[in-house]
Parts: sequence; C-alpha cells; structure tokens
Amino acid sequence: EWADRGAAMIVKDVPDKQTGKITKQVIKKGINDFKFGETLGDGSYSTVLLATSIESNKKYAVKILNKEYLIKQKKVKYVNIEKNTLQRLKNTKGIISLYFTFQDESSLYFLLEYAPNGDLLSLMRKHGSVNEKCTQYYAAQIIDALGFMHDKGVIHRDLKPENILLDVDMKVKLTDFGTARLLDSTSEDDLKYDLLTRSNSFVGTAEYVSPELLNDNYVDFRCDIWAFGCILFQMIAGKPPFKANNEYLTFQKVMKVQFAFTAGFPMTVRDLVKNILIKNPERRLLINQIKAHQFFADVNFGNGSVWDKDPPELG
Ligand code: ADE
Repeated sequence: EWADRGAAMIVKDVPDKQTGKITKQVIKKGINDFKFGETLGDGSYSTVLLATSIESNKKYAVKILNKEYLIKQKKVKYVNIEKNTLQRLKNTKGIISLYFTFQDESSLYFLLEYAPNGDLLSLMRKHGSVNEKCTQYYAAQIIDALGFMHDKGVIHRDLKPENILLDVDMKVKLTDFGTARLLDSTSEDDLKYDLLTRSNSFVGTAEYVSPELLNDNYVDFRCDIWAFGCILFQMIAGKPPFKANNEYLTFQKVMKVQFAFTAGFPMTVRDLVKNILIKNPERRLLINQIKAHQFFADVNFGNGSVWDKDPPELG
C-alpha cells in the first residue's frame, strides 16, 4: 500500500464568491503543476526527468516509477524504503531533498531537489581522474554526509559515483536510497550487525561491495565506509580498485582485497585507502578516524566549513 504521508499540501485562503467568508482549502500538488523536460537519468525501474513548477518556475528532478512494473517486479518495498529514508534524512546536509510525492493511475512521482551538475561518475569520466585537491574537496563532503546519515540510522548500501550528485554550487548530494537499510534506533547495537535473511538478499554494485557481504552475508554501516574507500581510490586512479571483466571475477578480487595503486598515486591518499580497504570491518577506519587522517589535515570538519568552500579547479 502506497501511503501518501509527506505529500505536498498547500493550504489556501479562499474567499466565498457571495459572502466573502474565508475558508481554508487544501490543495495537493499534482502532476499538472509541473512541466516535464529532459531525461536526467534512467534506473532499472525508474526514470528521472527535469520538472519545472508552473507556479514558481523552480526546477526539480522528478523520479517516475511505473506502478504496474513495480508490482510485477516486486519492487514496491524498495520505493517505500526510499521514501521513508528520504523523509528521515530531511534537512540533512549532503543528502538530496524530497519535496513532494504524488501518484496517478499509472505512476508514482518523487519530486526531488534538482542537482544540475550531474554525478561524480560523469565528472571523473570527463576529466579522466580528479586531482588531489579536488579529491579532498569531494571526499570530505562525502564522508561528512555519510556521518550525518549513519547518525540518523541509515545505511545506504549502494554508494557509488553515480549516486553522488553535484548541486548548483558543486556540493555533494547523495541520492538513490532504494536499497538503504533504516535502523529502528541509532544505538550502537543496531549499527553493529545486520545478518541478511533470504528475503534480504544481495544489494549493491559489484565494484563497491564489501568483502563481509560476500563472505559472511552481513552488512552494517561499515559497508558504506568500504564503498567510500573504493570511490576515493577511483577519484585519483580514474578507475575503481576492484574491476574485472565480469561480476564473478570482481567478487574474487574484492574477497582477496586484491588491488594495486596506479603510478603517481599520492602517498597520503594511499595510506588512507590502505586503512579503509581492509577485509576485516573491525580493523577498518571509522568515519571520525578518516576525518582525522593526514589527507584531511587542512580540512576543518565540525564547523560546517566543508560545505562553504568553493570547489577547487579540476585538473
Ligand atoms: N539524476 C538523478 N537524480 C537527479 C537529480 N536529483 N538531479 C539531477 N539529476 C539527477
């Protein structure tokens, strides 16, 4: 059942034509309040289009999901997870905002914040790789956003460059929470261990999946830190650390933590990556330890300045 909590409600004062008496009328935003434009992205069971509010001219990204397809493919659960997660992460720095949701006969609509500068994958592809200063700039925001997210009891579980969008100011916005895990509380115990059941099968993308998921079939918040390590490597090297011709071979490499630094890979980033891409999640650096690493020595986390700085020149 698609519960429509959190939908856009606009309350208007409407004067009665004869008496002039003011009554409150609730108007729900709907598909007719937006003009749809170009395609921004295509997912496995959704399409994202640019949408412009007719009333305000404000731009949004609308994620459209076909109901019949969702039901047939048994994906309804994931859509609800995405909506609930985005509602829990409302007003969280570094996370895409969900403004309205609505539906018609055929589809569900998520009106999301529009991030006009594309995603981190496109940025890396355009430049081949990202210089050290830029890597620090984006990595600092990604790790800060992961911290906020984990503090609110959300594990992303499919963090990858395609899911890291860039807003108008080139600030990071994490998106695509359809495979997230929402923890009931944010207590240490809950964050610690999440054994996968049969119904809770593999999630993620081969190149960024953590060895504990492949070996022991469990994940916790540290799978996002593993993915962060892979992305950090990729920004500098121009390719993810575990890459092979097929998923099976990629998994083999992940399980063996078999990767090699490219020539000229800076020493401080090397050290950080080495301490994140550790098979045993107990020995992997935690978010606060990553923030305290030498690579971020001149980055001031804590006072929000990570989110105020202009992006460095890409090279
Ligand atoms: N592609 C997918 N989601 C998007 C968003 N929110 N903004 C821009 N492009 C996107």
